Amino acid sequence: MTTTRLLPADPDGIAAAARLLCAGELVAFPTETVYGLGASALDPAAVAALFEAKDRPADNPLIVHLGDDDQLDRVAHRTPLATRLAADHWPGPLTLVLDARPEVPEITRGGHPTVAVRVPGHPIARRLLVAAGVPVAAPSAYRSGRPSPTTAAHVAEDLDGRIAAIVDGGPCPIGVESTVVDARGSRPVVLRDGTVTREQLGADDDGAAATAASPGARYRHYAPTCQVRLADPGTGPDVATEAAATGLRVHLVAGSPARDIPTTVVDGPDELAARLYAALRAADDDRADVIVVETVDATGVGRAVMDRLVRAAGRR
Ligand code: TXA
Ligand code: MG
Repeated sequence: MTTTRLLPADPDGIAAAARLLCAGELVAFPTETVYGLGASALDPAAVAALFEAKDRPADNPLIVHLGDDDQLDRVAHRTPLATRLAADHWPGPLTLVLDARPEVPEITRGGHPTVAVRVPGHPIARRLLVAAGVPVAAPSAYRSGRPSPTTAAHVAEDLDGRIAAIVDGGPCPIGVESTVVDARGSRPVVLRDGTVTREQLGADDDGAAATAASPGARYRHYAPTCQVRLADPGTGPDVATEAAATGLRVHLVAGSPARDIPTTVVDGPDELAARLYAALRAADDDRADVIVVETVDATGVGRAVMDRLVRAAGRR
């Protein structure tokens, strides 16, 4: 056990976090999507410690986070497509998969010849990455199998005593992980949906040619301990009330509340994305049997949130 320090997101806290990263320690920090658990990406011992702290399978590669897109050439071979996507979407919630430079250790790449890279848009993440001055490998900061963390408290629940520090930057604004795109060819191939949509990327809307699964998609993800039950838009309160009438302890995520049932009220796919993981964790904390979640159209941002929701419901 180590003692995990909770650092404020002020200049002193960020400087302390940057020093820890440079010394090979593990530091969790906020990004615009979810909290990441950072380790110096070019330091194989630091990355090995990261896999161990998370119980992460060794063949699931990590995203390398950069403070600035100039640093891309340190770790990856740029393509014209990557240059265009970076110009349009960085800093922001888009991850590019490219051929790796030999400087990127095999462990960071999960044994693959490619490396995933992104420049996050969250100001605290960027300040930390610039202060550290090294590329930082950062998966979502939870023990494998749980819903991703969108607050510092979520990170502490899973990783307290296993990592050096957590930078507390408040709740993450987006709430679902970045869009992952293979940018080695002439057209983007979406490996994981996120809030940078296929439409924005000019990727094919569907079809095997433009879609492949990222290695991480094989693993059980995003799932709370309680059962997740999907309900059509507008029907959540009724479905939840019926379930509660059978004696179950029920939580609800919907456009409107249900009487006597703890409800996270959300308006549209963006708000559902921002609050879904916190609602799943809150249901577990309250020892709920079931969480009923109203679905949204699986288009645009809704595609990413429905992808996570269907996985959480154990349907994929
Ligand atoms: O928003 C995010 O992307 C967050 C924040 C912290 O930046 N990070 C995150 O990392 O979600 P993680 O490790 O939980 O998910 C990374 C995903 C996995 O599905 C992984 O398989 C895929 O990216 N990935 C990483 N490197 C890859 C590569 N070389 N080729 C294909 N997929 C890759
Ligand atoms: Mg993850």
